[in-house]
Amino acid sequence: MGRAFVYVILGGGVAAGYAALEFTRKGVAPGELCIISEEPVAPYERPALSKGYLLPEAPTRLPSFHTCVGANEERLSPKWYKEHGIELVLGTRVISADVRRKTLLTAAGETISFKFLIIATGARALKLEEFGVTGSDAPNVCYLRNLADANRLVDVIGSQTGGNAVVIGGGYIGMECAASLVINKMNVTMVFPEPHCMARLFSPKIAGYYEEYYKSKGVQFVKGTVLSSFDFDSDGQVTSVNLRDGTQLPADVVVVGIGIRPNTSLFEGQLTLDKGGIKTNGKMQTSNASVYAVGDVAAFPVKLFGETRRLEHVDSARKSAIHAVASILDPQKADEFDYLPFFYSRVFAFSWQFYGDNAGEVVHFGDFSGSRIGAYWVSKGHLVGSFLEGGTKEEYDAIALATKVKPAVDDLAKLEELGLEFALAI
Ligand code: FDA
Ligand code: NAD
Repeated sequence: MGRAFVYVILGGGVAAGYAALEFTRKGVAPGELCIISEEPVAPYERPALSKGYLLPEAPTRLPSFHTCVGANEERLSPKWYKEHGIELVLGTRVISADVRRKTLLTAAGETISFKFLIIATGARALKLEEFGVTGSDAPNVCYLRNLADANRLVDVIGSQTGGNAVVIGGGYIGMECAASLVINKMNVTMVFPEPHCMARLFSPKIAGYYEEYYKSKGVQFVKGTVLSSFDFDSDGQVTSVNLRDGTQLPADVVVVGIGIRPNTSLFEGQLTLDKGGIKTNGKMQTSNASVYAVGDVAAFPVKLFGETRRLEHVDSARKSAIHAVASILDPQKADEFDYLPFFYSRVFAFSWQFYGDNAGEVVHFGDFSGSRIGAYWVSKGHLVGSFLEGGTKEEYDAIALATKVKPAVDDLAKLEELGLEFALAI
């Protein structure tokens, strides 16, 4: 059995939703486009899962955060897909792909063929087992990548109010979940191997600013070590977390956020890989001309840095998806993707934005004992990255523009003195 489509999007996450909207804007006939997703629901804004979804009061629930609400676009409900003649093949895992023959095989045994394929398979959460620790299957050990994970976490938190939560990992998931756990009145301890949180992005000074606030909310930090094992009760629930430095932490809930791996396995040996993802050119086209890759799984040329990068953030997923559709539908007209990397997070009442690259020397500004802080990164005499906490729209636009323009900076002390004024003057 089988079906044939002109366009198939493999993966039904953030990138898929934004690609679908762009297809309808540029013109796609009913029956031409299909989205295949392992998830049982239409594409949604994944960032909600670690924020509004975990709130104890008035939590965010579907359908309110289907794509593309995250960019103030239309909310694409299942009805929307139907009205536009877009086939949503949900709850369906693709188990093999044949790029040359242009076919995908689903776990249900259906062959779906395409003229053009957009790979939007995103990434999977790394498991503790990959670091030699067993226990991921315990009922109170939670990961957070999809809606099923989020529902499980909500249930576990609900049954353990006032208990001890141990958060493994000091990255995005760790920081956002720790804040949500505090809001749910849990006693939170964060454990991570680096000397400070958000080590991939933050300077020690920026990390310190947030860590101080977390501490004021009762969060404890155990840094420079990793977990070595769990203790379990007779029901298989984790009761404590044992760390490599010998510390034992009592645990009613464990949340694990130790990074991701892009879902490339279907295409290994068929498409060129790079930076752990599927390599594309500036049109998001892979080493096979009929196949495009977008979002977390794509490694694409970032013009601004003159090198290939793989980004794991929602803005990149949205814009790379839109760009791929434009490239497919109008290959002559489509420009090379000219993307300014943009990351953001919201925890407690904080809200920060980052643009560009955190390479070179960092120059901080703002009031580190107050509510507005910022930083610039300067590499090879040019501004390459900007960070701002608590900015207005105009201020965020200003740091984005400044980063895009890459102005020459020869006096770091002057840049520090000017602070936000530097960006506002560009
Ligand atoms: P995404 O992971 O969204 O979708 C991939 C889809 O492919 C899934 O539906 C999956 O089931 C499906 N799939 C994979 N393999 C398949 C197969 N073989 N067959 C069928 N389907 C398959 N970013 C940010 O900038 N700001 C933020 O605040 C946050 N917050 C945040 C919170 C949480 C909890 C997570 C997990 C992530 C974020 N992110 C974020 C990151 C952001 O969500 C991420 O970059 C995008 O979701 C990437 O979009 P993609 O469409 O590439 O993958
Ligand atoms: P991450 O890469 O941000 O952080 C991984 C963290 O794991 C590291 O900071 C490190 O502290 C820790 N770690 C690594 N090995 C460990 C070990 N053996 N033991 C303990 N800790 C260990 O990844 P994440 O936080 O898991 O986030 C998953 C994905 O979701 C990422 O792609 C991220 O970009 C995305 N996400 C983004 C946002 C956002 O942009 N605001 C929010 C949530 C999730």
